[in-house]
Amino acid sequence: MISVAIMGHGVVGSGVAEILYTHKQKLFAAIGEEINVKHILDLRDFPDSPFADRFTKDYKDIVNDIEVRVVVETMGGLHPAYEFVKECLSCGKSVVTSNKELVAAYGAELLAIASEQNANFLFEASVGGGIPIIRPINQCLVANNVSEIAGILNGTTNFILTKMIHEGMGFDEALKLAQELGYAERNPEADVEGYDACRKICILASLAFGKHIYPDAVHTEGITKITAADVEYANAWGGVIKLIGSVKKLDKDTIDIIVAPMFVPNNSQLANIDDVFNGIMVRGDCTGDVVFYGKGAGKLPTASAVVADIVDSIKHLKSRKYLSWADSDNSSVLPYPQSVRAMFVRGVAEAPEAAYHNARDLFGDIHIQTRENAPEKEIAFITEPLALSEFEEKCRQLEGIEIGSVIRIGDL
Ligand code: HSE
Repeated sequence: MISVAIMGHGVVGSGVAEILYTHKQKLFAAIGEEINVKHILDLRDFPDSPFADRFTKDYKDIVNDIEVRVVVETMGGLHPAYEFVKECLSCGKSVVTSNKELVAAYGAELLAIASEQNANFLFEASVGGGIPIIRPINQCLVANNVSEIAGILNGTTNFILTKMIHEGMGFDEALKLAQELGYAERNPEADVEGYDACRKICILASLAFGKHIYPDAVHTEGITKITAADVEYANAWGGVIKLIGSVKKLDKDTIDIIVAPMFVPNNSQLANIDDVFNGIMVRGDCTGDVVFYGKGAGKLPTASAVVADIVDSIKHLKSRKYLSWADSDNSSVLPYPQSVRAMFVRGVAEAPEAAYHNARDLFGDIHIQTRENAPEKEIAFITEPLALSEFEEKCRQLEGIEIGSVIRIGDL
């Protein structure tokens, strides 16, 4: 019998306890031993839980229990999750977490401690919820040089955009519905401003390229400024707007990493990933594109990934799994003004023809984009790919247009 402990009995933690209880036989068959949930840390009481007698409010009960070999961290947030995880790893316990904020902020340090202690620090559930993505990149695709990862990494914003695209809802109405259905994080800002997707693309980039990429180095835009008009223009262009986390390897020392809403063409594999689903494309030099799709959030999908890590940790109690990346100073991140993309511009001009003329003078070849029933003075065009700094400078010089929206064109 192997003893484990769970820190945090919220949505994901209670899902982990539930699966360990309901899938006991299945898991026994996989490991050849019973998993004993010895402690659950939470400040609340859960008298109806089958593990009601295992609850504690003192994390020291877990840290000091030498029988506990694997600790699950599903508290979320940075503190005290970081301190608890660090202490558990430092005393040789393996730790499994769903906490992307923790991994994105402290992954390199916690992986190094795990390595020193010959323990495991696993976090499959931190990206893509129930979708296998960490293990596939780390193991199944290990023979590849990965050149690019791009994905829809946040279910809440994908739900909101889907409602805007297919049901004509406005942003506020769709966000309210997402909150009513319980999709949004405690603080919806993390979802709608792109911070959650940013943490996830940082974890994938760190894993694929071997150096920790910290979220503060990544240019991040959310979806709060996307309007119904932008959605209609994307449709007329032949695509949809999606919040994309993207990282590309430009050369051996440089990556271009960003989180932003983008126009995604209808023929892209990411265009039809709707509602709360996530989709992640990994481009390997041997495999070509591999796409992962499934439920990126929710109690049991996320808990399923956590339980898989518990099983993996138990199977590797004596021989550590190789999962690691070096710390870094973010110097490999391309300064985002140098990032090159085509841009969609929507605005209002008193004299649309003259405005398009000015835009051509500055940007060269532009594609004028129309939509049905556009207001008389509305104009919209798409530039050729150019560096953001150059784009912004030209926008400053652009006369006769009041710019309303600027959205990147995703080459996906
Ligand atoms: N709020 C997140 C999402 C949960 O909507 O994707 C999973 O990280």
